[in-house]
Amino acid sequence: MRALLALTLSVLAACAIAPEPAPRWSIVVHGGAGIIERANLTPELESQYRAAMQRALDTGGGILESGGSSLDAVEAVIREMEDDPLFNAGRGAVFTAEGRNELDASIMDGRTRAAGAVAGVTTIRHPISAARAVMERSRHVMLVGEGAETFARSQALEEVAPSYFFTERRWQQLEENLRANNLPIPEPPAGAPSAPRAELAYPDDHQFGTVGVVAYDQHGNIAAGTSTGGTTGKRWGRVGDAPIIGAGTYAQNGICGVSATGTGEFFIRVGVARDICARMQFNGESAQEAADHVIADVGALRNNAGQPGDGGVIVLDGEGRFAWAMNTPGMYRAQLSAGGEPVVQIFADEQ
Ligand code: GLY
Repeated sequence: MRALLALTLSVLAACAIAPEPAPRWSIVVHGGAGIIERANLTPELESQYRAAMQRALDTGGGILESGGSSLDAVEAVIREMEDDPLFNAGRGAVFTAEGRNELDASIMDGRTRAAGAVAGVTTIRHPISAARAVMERSRHVMLVGEGAETFARSQALEEVAPSYFFTERRWQQLEENLRANNLPIPEPPAGAPSAPRAELAYPDDHQFGTVGVVAYDQHGNIAAGTSTGGTTGKRWGRVGDAPIIGAGTYAQNGICGVSATGTGEFFIRVGVARDICARMQFNGESAQEAADHVIADVGALRNNAGQPGDGGVIVLDGEGRFAWAMNTPGMYRAQLSAGGEPVVQIFADEQ
């Protein structure tokens, strides 16, 4: 009897400490965090977001299942999200106070820790591909503004007119933001469609809405990428965390991959993505523990207006196990591992 009890206890203990088995491949995606609550998301819009997150898993999972690289999966999923006006990246990005879309993106290859980023670009259809081109075809890590656009042109990346990124939803958010701050309302970009004003029922995600992907492929390589339009009404060439390696994006094989979304200033101050990886590498924290610690750290900071840091992260550990954390009411997020069931969630209290 005593032997049976001892055996039962040792089996239970082993189950309690055994880490989840490592998946063959995995992918985790976010579409931004913010004041996303059931009360301010219509059922139609909620299902559009859930479908978009499922599409992201289908695209990325398809590449990883067929043996493709984590870098290809990250780039392909983010390109699709940059084309989807639901998200604050590429088409559908938020506007600066001057009525422009200034886009930021970064990507990192965990195999080599090579990285590339662009900031403040206005005519590159897919900023994530420009970031990858910087990583793979230049000696630099970050290019900004016109220089980044000249480089992208030299690499034959697709250019569009600035009005391509225009959406009525984001324009109305800009007008609201400028009125609240007693700032003048600029003219919309030349060529922007002048559709009749509709009542737009979107949640208050316009501070965030960044997109990001972390993937782990069948060769054990991790990649991470992030793309954003930044924050509504940003001024003076403001750049957030998304294109900053170590703040919005980080990847290191065997350790971690991270992409962040939130008020970038706080994420830069904490060095969120690198701090999560350092906690996992040097403190032995799990992906979930590290993500929770660092989001708590973000939330403990204040800006000059006394506001706390807010946002979220998605994380993979060195063997492709996922975690996410946020201190906002919601974050569009999704995860899939080889042979597993897709997980698509929006609200913070979803399990
Ligand atoms: N997290 C995106 C930004 O602050 O620009």
